[in-house]
Amino acid sequence: MQYTTTEGGLSMTVSVYLLCSIFVSSVFYILLRSSRCRRLRLPPGNLGLPLVGETLQLISAYKTENPEPFIDERVNRFGTLFTTHVFGEPTVFSVDPETNRFILQNEGKLFDCSYPGSISNLLGKHSLLLMKGNLHKRMHSLTMSFANSSIIRDHLLVDIDRLIRLNLESWSDRVFLMEEAKKITFELTVKQLMSFDPGEWTESLRKEYVLVIEGFFTVPLPLFSTTYRRAIKARTKVAEALSLIVRQRRKESEAGERKNDMLGALLAGDDGFSDEQIVDFLVALLVAGYETTSTIMTLAVKFLTETPLALTQLKEEHEEIRAKKSEPETLGWSDYKSMPFTQCVVNETLRVANIISGVFRRAMIDIPIKGYTIPKGWRVFASFRAVHLNHDHFKDARTFNPWRWQNNSGTISTANVFTPFGGGTRLCPGYELARVELSVFLHHLVTRFSWVPAEEDKLVFFPTTRTQKRYPINVQRRYGSQAM
Ligand code: HEM
Repeated sequence: MQYTTTEGGLSMTVSVYLLCSIFVSSVFYILLRSSRCRRLRLPPGNLGLPLVGETLQLISAYKTENPEPFIDERVNRFGTLFTTHVFGEPTVFSVDPETNRFILQNEGKLFDCSYPGSISNLLGKHSLLLMKGNLHKRMHSLTMSFANSSIIRDHLLVDIDRLIRLNLESWSDRVFLMEEAKKITFELTVKQLMSFDPGEWTESLRKEYVLVIEGFFTVPLPLFSTTYRRAIKARTKVAEALSLIVRQRRKESEAGERKNDMLGALLAGDDGFSDEQIVDFLVALLVAGYETTSTIMTLAVKFLTETPLALTQLKEEHEEIRAKKSEPETLGWSDYKSMPFTQCVVNETLRVANIISGVFRRAMIDIPIKGYTIPKGWRVFASFRAVHLNHDHFKDARTFNPWRWQNNSGTISTANVFTPFGGGTRLCPGYELARVELSVFLHHLVTRFSWVPAEEDKLVFFPTTRTQKRYPINVQRRYGSQAM
């Protein structure tokens, strides 16, 4: 998931965080000295300064265009499984594909998902991301059944195509690509979840959403953080707006009317979900699909702009598809399936951008691994980013090179090294949807517009992966491409 926050809010957050971490860290140091911990062979590492650990080094690395040294230096000193102390807790970092797989595959058995308190509070306790056990399994597969290939092919693709074209139609001169992409992905998700077309209601819901997401990485103490207070208020408004819809749809469903969307499926099932459960579920799905996909759209365009040969090849592929169609004709599944180079661009963007750079888990018991022990209760971070950008797994790993995916899986070694959507029982249910949305977006963008960056813009990775200026571009409608 992605989130945003203001710089001011962030520094406030960091200072409050530091105060709060004093307590947590003190407990940790007592724990470390405990005889149980001394007996265990912990993965090697450096716990950094008392109280703050290595948090400040991590943050300052991830606020630059090149955060890699934070992990590289520790891997060189300690190996691919190392201990550090970040965000108030001792944390074992794994940058080893096999260990990452072990972590993902043992979800709910040896490891539990673990989100910061702010995220859990704002998502709501019934969100898929926080569910566990059998209920999680059932809801995960329900979500999958609403975003799988055949549903996309038979139902969602036509709306994806239509809503993307509708948005692009309004573009002229200068646009902030990140903003536009967010609008598109929000509208697509609302349509998929509850069959609403874009309008004032969707836009005002989106504005509240932005505030909710800003609260994700604040300290969840309303007294200390204005951003968190604002986020809580916005969350209440979002919940009220969604509850109204749920109530209305429940009545319709009881009267035998059923819409073929996610809300329809939640209402029609035998589970007897309460309104609150359904609202939490919808809130989380909107968050999960919104920021991630819009960021990947923006970064694909940025990387292509900086790699003109790839952009030319991509344009040729899409012009060929467009040449076979009349102008207003929508893209069909067979068109999507005839975009081999686009799929290389999608893979490479996912690999280099690492929107979700890894996942946090918590050890449920003492876990022996690679000759060490991860103590029960400790946090673990499985870093996808470090694997994706490792030269042992991908040649010239830190260069955007979509052609690497052309003749093989794009990797030197094989399994487990490409995991932008995670894995195991929490594998992203939107993985195919995100790919289709990005492909259709690229199709309409390159066949309708040419563009140049309006300003130099930098990629940063903290608090989220994004460009600092929302990637402003000057667009020009291509000759022969009419507004629809
Ligand atoms: C480029 C776009 C996307 C990326 C990179 C991405 C990545 C991920 C990753 C890595 C996870 C696993 C988190 C974990 O294991 O803790 C995840 C989970 C999830 N994603 Fe996505 N995602 C994307 C788009 C979407 C979309 C479009 C949807 C909408 C259906 C979605 C819905 C979810 C949900 C509901 C979960 C939680 C699954 C669970 O905990 O069972 N994602 N995503």
